[in-house]
Amino acid sequence: MSHVAVIGAQWGDEGKGKIVDWLSSRAEVIVRFQGGHNAGHTLVIDGKVFKLSLLPSGVVRPGKLSIIGNGVVVDPWHLLNEIASLQGQGVDINPSTLLVAENAVLILPFYATIDKAREEARSGGKIGTTGRGIGPAYEDKVARRAIRFCDLAQPDLLREKIDNLLFHHNSVLRGLGAPEIDRAGFENSLAEITPKLLPFISPTWLRLDQEMRMGKKILFEGAQGSLLDVDHGTYPYVTSSNTVSGMAAVGSGVGPRDIHYVLGICKAYTTRVGGGPFPTELFDEIGEGIGQRGKEFGTVTGRKRRCGWLDAVALRQSVKVNGIDGLALTKLDVLDGMDELKICTAYKLNGKLIDYLPASTAQQKAIEPVYETWPGWKESTQGARSWSQLPSKAVKYTKRIEELIETPIAMLSTSPEREDTILVKDPFLGR
Ligand code: GDP
Ligand code: IMO
Ligand code: MG
Repeated sequence: MSHVAVIGAQWGDEGKGKIVDWLSSRAEVIVRFQGGHNAGHTLVIDGKVFKLSLLPSGVVRPGKLSIIGNGVVVDPWHLLNEIASLQGQGVDINPSTLLVAENAVLILPFYATIDKAREEARSGGKIGTTGRGIGPAYEDKVARRAIRFCDLAQPDLLREKIDNLLFHHNSVLRGLGAPEIDRAGFENSLAEITPKLLPFISPTWLRLDQEMRMGKKILFEGAQGSLLDVDHGTYPYVTSSNTVSGMAAVGSGVGPRDIHYVLGICKAYTTRVGGGPFPTELFDEIGEGIGQRGKEFGTVTGRKRRCGWLDAVALRQSVKVNGIDGLALTKLDVLDGMDELKICTAYKLNGKLIDYLPASTAQQKAIEPVYETWPGWKESTQGARSWSQLPSKAVKYTKRIEELIETPIAMLSTSPEREDTILVKDPFLGR
């Protein structure tokens, strides 16, 4: 029995939601293991659009169990709103179909304020965070002062924790001359939602263990992408969690041996939203065209995504740090009709060729991409559901990607619709 981790292999928005939704027909349990509502995963099912930020993308499939794991930082107000909004779209969500880890950390209302204020005050390049308090939540987690779901049921302990938390944050706010946190208001709003949250809370690691023993298939759903990983990404222009596949184990409470296949999701080109280095970024009408055809606007913030050529160097690095077994290549259709396509196969740094993305921000900004050029195709790949429906030049482009990143393509996506997907190798069959 195989369990599969799906992770973004670029800077996020690779189409993880679509692929997880598709794969979840083959799994019984779908688990989010990191990030928070900074994610924006769009699913299109028979023309109906579902936008998810916090809930696992398998939630739209009846009869599946969705789990928000301990590695996720959860804004409980957002969680209740997202549940209500999906229920409004006819999705059945209740405490038997959705569980939230009792040891997951809460995103508190003032985290978003801190997040935005810090971005504003930042000297040098802005990170361009989603402003949803993700950074402050993970900071409080590692500083051991965060509030976790299990604390909500323990009023005395919760008060003590709030003392600790506010002592820290109010000291900082006072230093900045900013207004302090209104304790009563905060406590009241938390008390108001606690009864609605408690039914969802559970030791999810234990449930996962039981499900695995019963032979159920688990799908671990990553958010963001490897180049936004706090260790392996373009630091400091990253998110505050580990986004790589190793986190699937840590962030859900299973052992690393329980992940049998790592599926990396990657667009047929590259995008990035927010600040930070992007070696293959296009500033011309070609990039503009990709953005228009690919509808490259952020789900969470509505920001325009920066677009560029496929960066096979950074992608190969993602393959290595995640242990990617197979790639799901998405949005090939967006490249239809282009005269030629470029793939970055190396970087030039101070006149020398290098075959990896260096860690230093200065070097990441200084590197120049080295490209090879491939002929484009005029035919449409949109909606193709078999390899034989693809023009030969599109097939050659994908074969070259496989060669450069030393990894096979396991799935191909040719439109936002669930069923417009080509399966080459079923990840649930294992490596
Ligand atoms: P995620 O964050 O990785 O889940 O990706 P997003 O949902 O933020 O962004 C991917 C966007 O591309 C969504 O609007 C999807 O509906 C859309 N999409 C996914 N796969 C394809 C594809 O193969 N072709 C096209 N044209 N759009 C796709
Ligand atoms: P999905 O799951 C793309 C980016 C933000 C910013 C940086 C830090 O939809 O692929 P944060 O709010 O996390 O502190 O912001 O990370 N970012 C994403 N970019 N897709 C995402 O998620 C992202 N989540 C965060 O734009 O540059
Ligand atoms: Mg997204």
